[in-house]
Amino acid sequence: MTTVTGAQALPFEDPVEGALDDSLRRFEWRGAPTQVESLQIAADDGRTIEVPSFINEFWTARQRAAHSLHEVSYRACFKPQLPRFFIERLTQPGDVVYDPFMGRGTTLVEAALMGRRAYGCDINPLSRVLCEPRLTPPTIAEVERALAEVNFEGCGAPATRRPSVVEERAPSAVDGLPEELLVFYHPDTLRQICALRQHLILKERSGTLSRADRWIRMVAVNRLTGHSPGFFSVYTLPPNQAVSPKSQAKINARLGQVPPMRDIRGIILHKSAALLRDCTTQARTVLEKAAPDHRFVVGSASDASTLAADSVALVVTSPPFLDVVDYKTDNWLRCWFCGIDVSSVRVTLSKQVDMWKQFVADVLRDVRRVLRPGGHVAFEVGEVRGGAVRLENAVIPAGIAAALEPVLLLINTQRFTKTANCWGVTNNRKGTNSNRVVVLRKHP
Ligand SMILES: C[S@@+](CC[C@H](N)C(=O)[O-])C[C@H]1O[C@@H](n2cnc3c(N)ncnc32)[C@H](O)[C@@H]1O
Repeated sequence: MTTVTGAQALPFEDPVEGALDDSLRRFEWRGAPTQVESLQIAADDGRTIEVPSFINEFWTARQRAAHSLHEVSYRACFKPQLPRFFIERLTQPGDVVYDPFMGRGTTLVEAALMGRRAYGCDINPLSRVLCEPRLTPPTIAEVERALAEVNFEGCGAPATRRPSVVEERAPSAVDGLPEELLVFYHPDTLRQICALRQHLILKERSGTLSRADRWIRMVAVNRLTGHSPGFFSVYTLPPNQAVSPKSQAKINARLGQVPPMRDIRGIILHKSAALLRDCTTQARTVLEKAAPDHRFVVGSASDASTLAADSVALVVTSPPFLDVVDYKTDNWLRCWFCGIDVSSVRVTLSKQVDMWKQFVADVLRDVRRVLRPGGHVAFEVGEVRGGAVRLENAVIPAGIAAALEPVLLLINTQRFTKTANCWGVTNNRKGTNSNRVVVLRKHP
């Protein structure tokens, strides 16, 4: 389907026989036929590459409610419908699905729920903390028992005074109570958080973390800050975007608020029950079967060398879009809770498209190594900088540089989400108004 014009034929010039292509052409949503266009892209060697693009509302939040296990927040995560769309069309049960920028693990969780084996990589160890427990979810009774082991009174003396000077830095104390955090938490809430944190860090160090402990850590990370009594903190930004203590002090002053007392244990149990809502016996059986084969890499997506060559059927991923989101700053409080030194996390932020393209080519080279012949990549990029930068124009040449065949561009048109409106997030300017997914293939 892809046509390459120019003097020299590229090695992958065979047309892709189009199961995916045909199904996209025939796709209709609410009676709207798929719009098919031809995208002309300049390759690095001067040739012009013609790639078909398919435009429709291929998936929406309401089209099929997602599994409850997905309901954890993460900056710039995609909806589970996106990986599902490709997993169901391009893989079979038992195949390996990989995400080299796994974030909260949307691709991995969806793949595992569909009976696929899940591989994931992220430069931030926090990703594994968020994803792994949801691939092997405990029962609520296990969570209750593990929480009963925590001595919530056991950490530090009660903090009674508020800091006179709020510093613009992440707290580092492990054993005492980090007073900087009193802008977010009531002193007794902070004491409970620190007790839980210490309990989990000590168990991790001694190699005794159970799956219920990992689950509790994942849930606690997701409840640290937010905008309702369902979170540990006083009203603040959404949970995936912790502000600095200094900014929180300003929010508190503006709203005239004081952090209220929260019941950490109760909040964790409540959120656990919500996340486990759809974990039927059938879903658990599917997850348990796939569990021994999941793999995680904490490191750069350009070198996931512990993953075997030719092992992966499908990659569904979404990289950092230039420097649009600073995953490090957003996650400082979550990292603190997990004992992760945020300053050591080397998240890729590329200001220039050329630098970003080089980075993507390096990642795609390693992705090609792990892909089995005939395996596909669905590489999602957003419309960044108000749509002025079309990152697919960089991804397609980067894919060719990595010896992958460009197959098609799929554009899923999407309405704003309620959350985005509620927080005044201007998707048109900062994030994505649509999903733009470049599909590439390793030559069979
Ligand atoms: C757009 S987010 C992925 C979100 C994911 N699709 C989800 O649904 O949660 C990009 C991720 O890339 C990670 N990242 C940044 N630089 C990286 C690198 N060099 N190697 C691997 N991961 C990286 C960030 O930590 C972040 O989690």
